[in-house]
Amino acid sequence: MTGDIFAKCSNPRKELYLDAVAAGYAPFFKEMASESGPTVVHNGRPVIMLGSNNYLGLTSDERVKKAGVDAVERFGSGVTGSRLMNGTLPLHRELEEALLDWLGGDDCLVFTTGYAVNLGVLSTLVGPDDEVFLDSSCHASLADGAKMASGSTAFFRHNSVDSLLKRMRAWRQQSEGGALVAVDTVYSMEGDMAPVRQIADICDEYGARLLVDEAHALGVLGPKGAGLAAETSIQPDLLMGTFSKSLASCGGFLIGPRSVLDWFRIACRPFLFTASGVPAALGAALAAVRIAVEEDWRREAVQARATQLRQGLLDLGFQAGGDPGSPIVPVHIGDDLQAALLWRSLLDHGVYVNCALAPAVSPKRALLRTSVMATHTERHIDDALDVFEVARSSLA
Ligand SMILES: Cc1ncc(COP(=O)(O)O)c(C=O)c1O
Repeated sequence: MTGDIFAKCSNPRKELYLDAVAAGYAPFFKEMASESGPTVVHNGRPVIMLGSNNYLGLTSDERVKKAGVDAVERFGSGVTGSRLMNGTLPLHRELEEALLDWLGGDDCLVFTTGYAVNLGVLSTLVGPDDEVFLDSSCHASLADGAKMASGSTAFFRHNSVDSLLKRMRAWRQQSEGGALVAVDTVYSMEGDMAPVRQIADICDEYGARLLVDEAHALGVLGPKGAGLAAETSIQPDLLMGTFSKSLASCGGFLIGPRSVLDWFRIACRPFLFTASGVPAALGAALAAVRIAVEEDWRREAVQARATQLRQGLLDLGFQAGGDPGSPIVPVHIGDDLQAALLWRSLLDHGVYVNCALAPAVSPKRALLRTSVMATHTERHIDDALDVFEVARSSLA
């Protein structure tokens, strides 16, 4: 009897998911029939959106939308080729220059997604003799990049400098290869921040290179929204970000030394073997970068709304988390079923949040991930808190 490659698709987890879909309790693939603003239209009615990464509220900004439309008018709907061949536009250069002006650094490369940046960095740099050190809660793109790399991977305990130090020491005693430490600066589910200064010190001490993933920090933290590295005055060897959050578009970028990025230009497979981002995405991202730098009120507003939401949830007795300054406010629930029930009740009463269940989070660590935008008003958050109160009592 030979095995069938499809056999693994008959998985109890899938059956559970399909049962949840049939019962209307699956918190995934919900259609939003409007722009991703502070409220969205779902099932024909407005709901308060607390499940978006549109932190600066720029996806519906007229200047950003117009820049996307103008880019389509000028360059068409797609580039139909990789950046290496026919897919590099003047917009790429302008965007790379705008990112360097904002964030500093020697050289910048725009990728088609942020996911591809992390795959690319790890698979291009971590060779057979090398080690990559990853936080146990790192984004999937870093973990997947480590799988693609030919070197080995050591996971250290989430945000534990001691754990990193222990693994780094043990590795250095038996290897003369190169080391890369890669961390998210703001963790996407928990909304907590990495101790980047201590991590940078360890990298210096052990001759390791440091990659920071600023996906959830850009636009929100640091001077002019330049991220947690800028806020803490560290200089990572490599800095990546995405356009799919504060920058209201789609795509990613990497900043690093020119000597390294010139190698990436001809050797980084997730950069080379995929089509370049569409002109609309590039045009919108460029406009969003310019606005993000200029409009300080947006980061002040997003941080104020996150503080209001976090405090309000704590006052209601929820276990709300996330570090001060982070736009992400997780509500820790624990049990998957309870989380799905609360998620559904919130939606029924007019609030959309993201539901993170195992295996996206560790077993028994289910949470509702909420996040806010600069364009939420105090009233939106107060209304959402009222709904949390109602939904909580409907569970009890
Ligand atoms: C921390 C982090 N890194 C990287 C990515 C990937 O970014 P993109 O959406 O541009 O592929 C994400 C997006 O989910 C993220 O949260």
